[in-house]
Amino acid sequence: MSQKPDEASASDSGARPVPRTQQAIVQLRYGAVRDVLALAEAVPVRAPGPQEVQIHVRAASLNPIDWQTIEGNRRLIARRCFPFTPLFDLAGVVTEVGHGVTSFRTGDRVHADNEVHGGGASQYANIPARLLAHVPAELDFAESAALPLAAQTAMTCLDRGRVAAGTRVAVIGASGGVGHFVVQLARAAGAHVVGVASARNHEFVRSMGADEAIDRHETDLSASFGADSFDVVIDCVGGREQWTRAQHVLRPGGRFVTIARDEDGVVTPASAARLLSTITARRLRGAGPRGRKYVPVFLKASGDLQRRVNALAETGQLRAHLSRTFPLTLEGVHAAVEESRAGRTVGKLVLLR
Ligand SMILES: NC(=O)c1ccc[n+]([C@@H]2O[C@H](COP(=O)([O-])OP(=O)(O)OC[C@H]3O[C@@H](n4cnc5c(N)ncnc54)[C@H](OP(=O)(O)O)[C@@H]3O)[C@@H](O)[C@H]2O)c1
Repeated sequence: MSQKPDEASASDSGARPVPRTQQAIVQLRYGAVRDVLALAEAVPVRAPGPQEVQIHVRAASLNPIDWQTIEGNRRLIARRCFPFTPLFDLAGVVTEVGHGVTSFRTGDRVHADNEVHGGGASQYANIPARLLAHVPAELDFAESAALPLAAQTAMTCLDRGRVAAGTRVAVIGASGGVGHFVVQLARAAGAHVVGVASARNHEFVRSMGADEAIDRHETDLSASFGADSFDVVIDCVGGREQWTRAQHVLRPGGRFVTIARDEDGVVTPASAARLLSTITARRLRGAGPRGRKYVPVFLKASGDLQRRVNALAETGQLRAHLSRTFPLTLEGVHAAVEESRAGRTVGKLVLLR
């Protein structure tokens, strides 16, 4: 069960000393998740560096990037040292702060997208203070672990799409981790929102705030809507066809914001070069006031961005939908990865200690 603030344990409040070693789920090399993760005993608990905060991890969430990076898809751009403790998103209680940190104290409930440092699969993790935010009072650890990476990405999409009151927005992949946050944020901004998702998820997408939903198995944006129907298309799925179709429905000067690539799989020098030339070509094509703008988003996580997300969570305008919760164990991580890989996640997958 998740815990509310007043249920923090004795070790969380600093009454019990932090152990010198811990159990952690570690990645030993790149490869299939079932082959390369192991439970390690007696992993040293490091004291936080001057700008770091040590937290007792209570919950983590799983994002596709977790298994993509474990498999080594991104080793060209983000090489890991092994053993490595995976899971970017985490929430927990501060157990120690570095001497240069002034904004967090022992016992605070915090959460972060700890990016390439990972650590969600350990008992204790050190997080750069610039990535951390306090958890909103009403959220438990499971809900707060579900927010960072996906909700910060969604917020960045809204920013880059310049979504405001009255903007007509289409969200491709509206039921997924990032997509369900994009729908809620666009709704909160006062936009008119169309969600693209499987029919079985239309009720959910509407409950997140979409005004309309279309079935991705039956139709697509260019078949369902005419020219100039949208100011912004936000793509949370990827594939060349999303950009091709979006150009038919975006108004002149409209923006296609995407968080995913045309190609799945391992980033190689050749695929990285193709990506760069694709981005350049699409940007050139969109140049000028009437061109449709191609806007790729690569999240730069921060505590500041998380605080903007949290302000909306505090007013009830944003919530994480927890699709399934798993134990924060080796088997739990395996099961969550299998679920994520199946590509049918509605909202977020969470792991809870
Ligand atoms: N650039 C960045 O900074 C950044 C940040 C976060 C995530 N990402 C990437 O963005 C993508 C989405 O992340 P996420 O966390 O939202 O994933 P997710 O939660 O796993 O998304 C699952 C949803 O995607 C939909 N879907 C799956 N396959 C699809 C397809 N072929 N066509 C259309 N929809 C499909 C399904 O919805 P329906 O069944 O309802 O259609 C499913 O419920 C991932 O590739 C991730 O790596 C990038």
